[in-house]
Amino acid sequence: MRHLLDIADLSRAQLEGILDDADGFVEVLGRPIPKVPALRGKTVTTAFFEPSTRTRLSFERAAKALSADTMTFAPGTSSLSKGESLKDTVLTLQAMGTDLMIIRHQAVGAARRVSEWLSVPVVNGGDGAHQHPTQALLDTLTVRRRFGHIEGLRVAIVGDIRHSRVARSDSQAFSTLGAHVTLVAPRTLLPVTTRDWPVEVSASLDKVLPDVDVVYLLRVQTERGGASVFPSLPEYVSRFGMTRERRARLKAGAVVMHPGPMNRGVEIADEVADDPDALVLEQVSMGVAVRMAVLFRLLGGEIDG
Ligand code: NCD
Repeated sequence: MRHLLDIADLSRAQLEGILDDADGFVEVLGRPIPKVPALRGKTVTTAFFEPSTRTRLSFERAAKALSADTMTFAPGTSSLSKGESLKDTVLTLQAMGTDLMIIRHQAVGAARRVSEWLSVPVVNGGDGAHQHPTQALLDTLTVRRRFGHIEGLRVAIVGDIRHSRVARSDSQAFSTLGAHVTLVAPRTLLPVTTRDWPVEVSASLDKVLPDVDVVYLLRVQTERGGASVFPSLPEYVSRFGMTRERRARLKAGAVVMHPGPMNRGVEIADEVADDPDALVLEQVSMGVAVRMAVLFRLLGGEIDG
């Protein structure tokens, strides 16, 4: 593995290998001094052209826990405003001595393009509505640790699928690892075609609710037009919102997940988000361990490609 750009590039064995490594890093992060010298002397750069709280900071946290140095490129205060191109920007960051770059960009395919320009490993931190591979890795890690396995689980991914890089990446990862994935959304929030997606599709959350082990809620992506395709927020909530009442109809042991940031009161009710059984903050914690595993593979450890 030279870059991490797309979940579809990874075999089941590679996915499982990353999750196995991440389990080890969960243990490291639980130590009194949660730090190992594995990447001492390496420099990891985050270049995020779209807003982020979790992804960028947890990559920084992961790099530091492996003793790497970090650089953060902040587009708002950079020479982008003087018209510098994406290519010149990333080549500049590489020339300063970057060993690995994590990029988030609004354009589909941006991370892959950057990986063609640079000689160092590139990690896709989200490209438009296309891919967000480390989100899928942290989600599958969270579920595997909760249930002990992924094979045979039923996962419903609910809401704004059309605009969601998380939905695509998570569908691929969960189904490669043997789960059954159902996308639940109104027609207007589904992609134009789901032919290439390894999933079933349903228009009724209430129908799938009693059978699923994992309910994965997506944020309605207003910045990509997500709110304009259904009549009103109350109507969305009444058909697809995870209310307390719907939470009560899940089978015993089922879990609720959300990648964050949450629109409380829209796709997820306050009481559901704050329920100790919701895995939202556990997902965030697992994000650090999984990103350590990814950085370690790309910069330090792997021999088997
Ligand atoms: C997601 C993203 O940016 O793709 N957030 C995240 O990385 N945890 C999902 C979202 O913005 O809704």
